[in-house]
Amino acid sequence: MKENIFNKDFLWGAATSANQVEGAWNVDGKGISVTDILAYTGVGTFRIETPNIDEVKHYYPNHIAADFYNNYKEDIAAMAEMGLKAYRMSIAWTRIFPNGDDETPNEKGLEFYDKVFDELKKYNIEPIVTISHYESPIELSYRYGAWGNRKMIDFYLRYCEIIFKRYKDKVRYWITFNEINCLTVPFGIITAGGIVTDKENNTEELRYQALHYQFVASAKAVKLAHSINPNNKVGCMIAYMTAYPSTCAPDDVLLAQQHDQMKNMFCPDVMIRGEYPGFAKRYFLDNNINIVMEESDLEIIKDGVADFYSCSYYMSNCVGLDNSKDKTSGNLIVGLKNPYLKASDWGWQIDEKGLRWVLNNAYGRYRVPIMILENGLGANDIVSEDGRIRDDYRIEYLRKHIEQIKEAILDGVEVIAYTPWSCIDLISLSTGEMKKRYGFIYVDRDNNGNGTLKRIKKDSFYWYKKVIESNGNILEEKGE
Ligand code: BG6
Repeated sequence: MKENIFNKDFLWGAATSANQVEGAWNVDGKGISVTDILAYTGVGTFRIETPNIDEVKHYYPNHIAADFYNNYKEDIAAMAEMGLKAYRMSIAWTRIFPNGDDETPNEKGLEFYDKVFDELKKYNIEPIVTISHYESPIELSYRYGAWGNRKMIDFYLRYCEIIFKRYKDKVRYWITFNEINCLTVPFGIITAGGIVTDKENNTEELRYQALHYQFVASAKAVKLAHSINPNNKVGCMIAYMTAYPSTCAPDDVLLAQQHDQMKNMFCPDVMIRGEYPGFAKRYFLDNNINIVMEESDLEIIKDGVADFYSCSYYMSNCVGLDNSKDKTSGNLIVGLKNPYLKASDWGWQIDEKGLRWVLNNAYGRYRVPIMILENGLGANDIVSEDGRIRDDYRIEYLRKHIEQIKEAILDGVEVIAYTPWSCIDLISLSTGEMKKRYGFIYVDRDNNGNGTLKRIKKDSFYWYKKVIESNGNILEEKGE
């Protein structure tokens, strides 16, 4: 048995995002964000609906979500009971600037996060705060075309300045953008880019242009955070889109490498190494992608490199020249099936060893501390007659991934945090469902909005409590 692998101050945590957990989507001055108009259509997929709320025809699950907004005290007490050392959460931009371009912030929104941070502090839980987790104000999309427009940099920085100053002594770890690399895939234009557009205008060039503006915004935010409080640590975050070559044919191996470069290394290369990598420049040339930059942009990027690396990791796929093979499912990216792996009920391939590979790969390149900010299993949890939720499958998934984190640490990788998705059941990003549950804590609510919102601690809750108590030494015991 491998013991005492984790540092004593390792940040064992759990994660959520504001738009998937808070609900209270239109109270206390909050504006509408892009994810507030993703409607549940009843078939496990969502669609973009009119922002004209008077014409709402569909059910919008995140408008209530897990109602964390009204239950945060109870939920944070449960986090404390679980022993969490960290809580990865996000701030809803639209609570602070309802339209995104407002002159002054919304005090009520700021107060809400004051209360959340104070509550976390009470239990010594460290907040790790994502500034933009697929939550940009819809008005910025309609008025300016969101991140397709350079003006976004200033709107974003105004928002950053307000929250950096307000929470100066309450938050130390910041993430500038959730899964910033998701802007490279078509669906990412809405979630990561906040750009509501039709298919024709959803071009690669627009997505990379938007990404460039986010890079500049992120670099400026890093500098700003450090100037407001030198203790601030600001991270870059990607969704690791792991893809193995589907065969050992050199062409497939090369394709997998190119995939890794453009999907996974491109963003951290810019944000941590501080420059556009050669393979990206070549990709732009080959694909006729022209990024508009201002003269000082590259200097700004060089000057504002992130302090740590972070990623989400759920699964792996394969890529190969023969694209006719069976495909996997995923939320922002899909690939070819791997015959050696099993998949979740939603078709996401489960590959714990891929996490060790990812950690080694990323650390080998960036040599900065790593936070794993999302990892988990979406499943249809059933409440038994005795009221318990026996989510052994989730325990098994998480246990195997933690074992691989240990291996990576033994390989020399500096992992400093692990915050599985998700702390509490919340709305799925890709399907808009409640049924696809990830939490340690069950929330009584179904896909159509029925349920009392009552919380039930799942078996995985008690298991994870043991894991944390033993600082990762005990992974087998079930807990209470
Ligand atoms: C990540 C996102 O990509 O995957 C989360 O950051 C999301 O917001 C998570 O919820 C799981 O995906 P899904 O689609 O199953 O909710």
